[in-house]
Parts: sequence; C-alpha cells; structure tokens
Amino acid sequence: MKFFADTAEIAEIRELAETGLLDGVTTNPTLVHKSGRDFIETIREIAAICPGPVSAEVVALDHDGMMREADILRAIAPNITIKVPLTSAGLKACRALTDGGTMVNVTLCFSAAQALIAAKAGATFISPFVGRHDDVGFNGMDLIADIRMIYDNYDFATQILVASVRHPMHVVEAAKLGADVMTAPPKIIHQLYKHPLTDNGIASFLKDWEATGQKIG
Ligand code: G3P
Repeated sequence: MKFFADTAEIAEIRELAETGLLDGVTTNPTLVHKSGRDFIETIREIAAICPGPVSAEVVALDHDGMMREADILRAIAPNITIKVPLTSAGLKACRALTDGGTMVNVTLCFSAAQALIAAKAGATFISPFVGRHDDVGFNGMDLIADIRMIYDNYDFATQILVASVRHPMHVVEAAKLGADVMTAPPKIIHQLYKHPLTDNGIASFLKDWEATGQKIG
C-alpha cells in the first residue's frame, strides 16, 4: 500500500519524506487555504521534495477552464497529478489528460457507480472519501470493498486512493480490502506506529539495561 500525505504544509512533508515512508502527496483548495501560502509556489516546493505523485486540484468547473488550469499545473513538474472533481466536465478532462500522458486523480467520489465511470475515463487514481461517507451515516469501507471488486472484475488499472482518512483503523481496514493507496494527514501517519505497549516495553528494557551497568561500544 502506498502512503500519501494529505497536506500542503512543507515542513510536515519534508519530515515524512526523510522517513522514507512517503510515496506521494495530495492537496486540495482547503489545505492550500490552511497553509496560507501561494498555491503554485507550494506545489512546486512539494514536487521537489517528494518524487512521487503530487496532486494539485483544478478549481474551474467547465472543461475548457479545467484544461487551462491543468496546463499550468502540469508544467510545474513531471510528477504533478491533476485532481479533477467527479463531474461530467471532470471526467472529460480526465480522459483528455490521461490520453496525453498526465496522471489524473478523480476526487470527491462517494459511490461505486462514480468510481466505475472514473475508471472508464482512464483515471490514474480514484479518491473515495471514507471519512465524509462515515459522517453521513454510510460505511466508507463498504464503498472501498465495492470499488475493489468492480476494478478487479474488469482489471481496471485505476488505483484506489482512500481519502478523507480520519484515524489509523481507516488505514488498516483499507489495507485489508486491498486499496492501492491511502492519503492521510501526517498526524495520522505518525499515529500508525505509536503504541503504549511499545513505549512501556522500551522503558522497562532501559531500566533493566541500566541495572546491568553495561554499555554497548
Ligand atoms: O483527500 C481528501 C481529504 O483531504 C478530505 O479529508 O478530512 O476534509 O474529509 P476531510
């Protein structure tokens, strides 16, 4: 499973990249707003830090506008992935962009039908939002299972990128279902390795080690 960081904060991305655990980055207009920084400059910096796919979202709602914005964004670096919404214009832009060799992340997916049509449009990634699905009383993981089955039935190459991840169990459940990628805020990626029994174990081993009076080296 690939790990993407869902953030536009450069320091967080740099820290994760140094761990060797970072396979890509996703951003959206809300995350850019939170960062308070210039969009293009931020995407350029992220793409230089992370060699994997870096999603940058268009904001135009019409096909021509999306293509114009995509041209500007994809010129930033070869690893830019254009993020388009799951609309008719977004799917048309997806087809045109992927046919031209640009990676596309189709975002705001909330149904298996939407995921099916995004795959038919040639999407590189489909982003089902599991947390927002849970928020309105549906099980986001049921959606991931349905998409996995549909994509496997037809050997679609579109990668399932689980988004709107809110806690470590979303990541574990998505991995059990065979999702290709998950994108999460860095805080959740760090929560994946934290465990109180690990901390307790380290403390008791250190105490006993000190009692031996020995040193390594
Ligand atoms: O990648 C999409 C993600 O940023 C949405 O997350 O927590 O705003 O639903 P959230």
